[in-house]
Amino acid sequence: MQLPPSSPSLATPSKWQPSNLPVRQIPGSYGWPIVGPLSDRLDYFWFQKPESFFRKRMEKYKSTVFRTNIPPTFPFFSNVNPNVVAVLDCKSFSYLFDMDLVEKKNVLVGDFMPSVAYTGNMRVGVYQDTSEPQHSKVKKFCIDILRRSSSIWVPELVSNLDIMWDGIEESLSKSTSSSASYIFPLQRFLFTFLCKTLLGADPSREPKIAESGYAMLDRWLALQLLPTVSIGFLQPLEEIFLHSFAYPFFLVSGGYNSIYEFVKKEGKQVIYRAEAEFGLSQEEAVHNLLFVLGFNAFGGFSILFPSLIETIASNETGLQERLRKEASEKGGSQLSFESVKEMELIQSVVYETLRLNPPVPLQYARARKDFRLSSHDSAFDIKKGELLCGYQTLVMRDPNVFDDPEAFEPARFTEEKGARLLDYLYWSNGPQTGTPSEFNKQCAGKDFVTLTASLVVAYLFRRYNSIKGNSSSITALEKA
Ligand code: HEM
Repeated sequence: MQLPPSSPSLATPSKWQPSNLPVRQIPGSYGWPIVGPLSDRLDYFWFQKPESFFRKRMEKYKSTVFRTNIPPTFPFFSNVNPNVVAVLDCKSFSYLFDMDLVEKKNVLVGDFMPSVAYTGNMRVGVYQDTSEPQHSKVKKFCIDILRRSSSIWVPELVSNLDIMWDGIEESLSKSTSSSASYIFPLQRFLFTFLCKTLLGADPSREPKIAESGYAMLDRWLALQLLPTVSIGFLQPLEEIFLHSFAYPFFLVSGGYNSIYEFVKKEGKQVIYRAEAEFGLSQEEAVHNLLFVLGFNAFGGFSILFPSLIETIASNETGLQERLRKEASEKGGSQLSFESVKEMELIQSVVYETLRLNPPVPLQYARARKDFRLSSHDSAFDIKKGELLCGYQTLVMRDPNVFDDPEAFEPARFTEEKGARLLDYLYWSNGPQTGTPSEFNKQCAGKDFVTLTASLVVAYLFRRYNSIKGNSSSITALEKA
């Protein structure tokens, strides 16, 4: 009899009762050396794209658990093993959170790991497993930064949103095409807001950083992740030039070093605490801070906010009116973490956006030992060292858990039934009901992310009656 995955620090969905499922051999194969991985790579990036890559194989093998290859691979990634076991339903995916069964050493983006040159020649916290003492120090440090920044978080958010939306209104009023792109204003806003809250540093003290800090982070992020992401560039050029080899760090070292110096100089107090209270060296503190700021926070929000704005700004079913009503009637006169907790629909819309479009769709973990893993209908034997790969976009559309899983249901997560579904909202590498800690690998910013996104929606509907636009531009704004 197979017991459900357990983790002392993450809520285990109560639904996974001990089961007596038939043991099945894991379907799928890795194919011939070079040819198998290469053909899967072309399907993944070119012929099918990630979502249908996983969907087609799931249908072919009639299983949510199967073997496949994940890029990068041939020709210049000879040290990367592309073989994975895909886990695509809520039950099998939740084994990725069980730190007794799996380890998370160096598997942030799969077996491929960007050069440590991108992170100051050290393995920063996200690449460390919970068994490594350094992980505990960095995770506690990060949780502490967030806790301390919470007193200035909302006022900084609101004042920087004011600047961003004043600018968008101005561009829209001057635009001849009745459209204003918000991507750069959003990234400027995020950069300033996150430097102030996480580092206690004001970018305006360094004009070069204030002007182009966000673009430096974009380049640094893009270069290290290019071998693993599809960017929709002309094929086969994308395969030949962007997915065949890893780009060297020196191409972005100038920008990285400038931000490094800025963090070191302007974030002195936070760095002092990292050394005095968490036992990190100055170098470790600065590179980890830069990573959390630039990769986790800036990178994550840069993906989440356009998808949230698009979800709302392109909706024509009366949702905006309901959001406006809730934002204006609930939560008192000033926005705060507490006030937004009263806005049930707004929070649910944020959760539903994260369910359908998880910003970090792929999660990996390596089996620490042999164990038996279950999907809803079968059990499978996993061998020590095998790499599990979960694709959240399909996992969070699991029809065994979510009714009408492909549909956007704004109120899905409201009321008692909706609250129970939070056990299966996995965008943060753990259930939304879990608690990030040094014992797990759940996103340290989990609650800040959902509350901040909810605050942004509440802010927008206190400022505007309606918004029209998409994932990059605003086309109409009607003031409240
Ligand atoms: C929309 C925004 C964000 C998204 C989508 C996101 C998502 C994630 C995910 C999926 C992971 C797990 C990666 C893995 O190990 O497979 C993670 C880890 C992490 N996130 Fe976030 N994150 C976001 C924002 C933030 C923010 C604002 C912070 C802190 C300021 C943060 C700090 C971290 C840290 C420190 C880890 C590593 C946890 C560990 O090593 O135990 N994230 N995040």
